[in-house]
Amino acid sequence: MRILSIETSCDETAVSIVEATGDFPDATYEVLGNALFSQIDIHKEYGGVFPAVAKREHIKTFIPMLKKALEDAALLVEEPSTLSQTDAEKLHTLLSREEGAAEELISFCEAYELPEFDLIAVTSGPGLEPALWVGINFAKALSAVLGSPVVAVNHMEGHILASIFDAVEDDKLAQIAFPAVALLISGGHTELVLMQNWGTYEKIGQTKDDAVGEAFDKVARMMGLPYPGGPQIGTRAQEARAQNLPPYKADLPRPMLHSNDLDFSFSGLKTSVRYAIEGKELTEAEKNALCRDFEDAVTEVLLKKTRTALTQHGAATLIIGGGVSASTHLRQTFQAELLASHPDVEVYLPQRELSTDNSIMIALSGHARASSAATAGAIALIKADGNRSL
Ligand code: KG4
Ligand code: ZN
Repeated sequence: MRILSIETSCDETAVSIVEATGDFPDATYEVLGNALFSQIDIHKEYGGVFPAVAKREHIKTFIPMLKKALEDAALLVEEPSTLSQTDAEKLHTLLSREEGAAEELISFCEAYELPEFDLIAVTSGPGLEPALWVGINFAKALSAVLGSPVVAVNHMEGHILASIFDAVEDDKLAQIAFPAVALLISGGHTELVLMQNWGTYEKIGQTKDDAVGEAFDKVARMMGLPYPGGPQIGTRAQEARAQNLPPYKADLPRPMLHSNDLDFSFSGLKTSVRYAIEGKELTEAEKNALCRDFEDAVTEVLLKKTRTALTQHGAATLIIGGGVSASTHLRQTFQAELLASHPDVEVYLPQRELSTDNSIMIALSGHARASSAATAGAIALIKADGNRSL
């Protein structure tokens, strides 16, 4: 099955072409083409992601990414032709909300001979709705021209699959034992999900306010560090650990550490950082120390709740996914600490390049959906769902 996959839920415009051989979850996945454009430099200027800006950039970047993915896969064939009036009209209708997109797609289709795909997989949520729509409408437009079916993918399932891809065997998903717990930590989400099997997801814990990545981004911003804050804070925290710097703020709170549930809260921690720096001019060393203090507090809470979830549900597997799982400190701490407390639990962390948003994970999830009977919905009904849950 040749899959074209599209991800535009936040600030990455990504297109992949993946060949799946066999059935989910035992298939072999060959990534034939992969293209990703990160809008980070654009959003840096604003200190965060504005949906309208993200939408505009996705519209601008989608065709170049499609072209690159096809080129990568050696599937880009120049073949001038004229699109039929009916097809052109369809594209104008489907892309009527994405200014200039129909014209661009039409000239692309008239310059190249597009290959056939067995499936087009596109993220339909969760995410920023104006951004999601760009991917969905391009998917529908391509489907109209190529006749390929479209499947709507849940971004969070994508993150789960990304974490077990290439983990044990190249081009394969790891064969995980159930029940499994997934800790999903990104710019938009912080949740613990219980999986009794593939496709059955039960949210057992979540943040009551900020997502953990969002807290990283906001704290970084307060400290005058650029967006996205996670990697910035991570690098500085590692520096502080290497130099064994004394704490800048030893008593940062560990919100909800002892609450009797699996929920999180990070907004109070963020506020404590604000109070700790308000009106002060921090030295570089003090900033590094504070980054470490903050990262320590976050990691401690995430670890404690994850341990509780694993024990409560007798989990055999832990899957950590989402952008924050790129954190070196978090990776090391979880691996070492869980080996001590839960030696029988298999822990999966994504390859670094698959930890933040990408479209390879959307192809994997698309394949999972296509293999289940519940997928046969009408393409016209696919819509963006910013709050889509697993
Ligand atoms: O999964 P992702 O790429 O996008 C969303 O779906 O939100 O996650 C992005 C988030 C950002 O908040 C970013 O600051 C955070 O992941 N992040 C990190 C690191 N790298 C990215 N957080 C902590 N440490 C990192 N190394
Ligand atoms: Zn994500």
